[in-house]
Amino acid sequence: MNKEAEKYLITLSDPRSPVSEAYRTLRTNLSFYSLDNPLRTLVVTSPAADDGKSTTVANLAVTMAQSGRKTILVDCDLRRPSLHTFFGLPAEPGLTNMLLDDDEPPLQETGVENLWLLASGPKPPNPADLLGARKVDRVIERLKEMADVILFDAPPVVAVTDAAVLGAKVDGVLLVISAGKTRREHAERAKELLQKAHVRLVGVTLTNAPKDDAISGYYG
Ligand SMILES: Nc1ncnc2c1ncn2[C@@H]1O[C@H](COP(=O)(O)OP(=O)(O)O)[C@@H](O)[C@H]1O
Ligand SMILES: [Mg+2]
Repeated sequence: MNKEAEKYLITLSDPRSPVSEAYRTLRTNLSFYSLDNPLRTLVVTSPAADDGKSTTVANLAVTMAQSGRKTILVDCDLRRPSLHTFFGLPAEPGLTNMLLDDDEPPLQETGVENLWLLASGPKPPNPADLLGARKVDRVIERLKEMADVILFDAPPVVAVTDAAVLGAKVDGVLLVISAGKTRREHAERAKELLQKAHVRLVGVTLTNAPKDDAISGYYG
């Protein structure tokens, strides 16, 4: 396991820790969110940078894969991609290759059974336009043919429109809030922006919380 994985992928480096248990609880809650219409595509976003989006979505993806579901993790934070570093993989090829060239998904093996990464790919000049394009719907459909669950890491929702645009194309959005860091008005603004974009907000997870309840505050 590389140093990044050890540090950020606690569900791999310390699966018995309370934090890993909290990620499994989150997985379970999401699985039960809608039994008739299971969430297969989920975007994770937050109000600002460094709230813990990438860490949350990556660990959630690991626990999904560990439960036997074929899982694809997609890095849609095209401005500040980071998921590839967690797995010691290159950032290219990835999503933007698929969008620009109509390629088949250049999935990378992560070393975790049942888990593949679709990295960001080369940085585009216009991430929001790219993520809003009709082609993204086709990419999502194609990924759904290849896996049970597809999780998308997104940029902060208050700063740019990408997350809300993408959120409207998937089954649900999970909002990450950082305890002690996220300002109340930013959390409210994030919720408002997502609701305006007609996304289905399926929950809120709290990161950076004191002690071992690193993710909590879930609502369904
Ligand atoms: N649940 C958590 N509790 C405490 N710190 C966290 C948590 N998740 C992430 N972090 C830390 O917060 C920082 C930003 O995390 P990252 O996932 O890259 O955020 P984002 O993707 O929102 O920019 C990292 O240093 C990470 O270790
Ligand atoms: Mg990130």
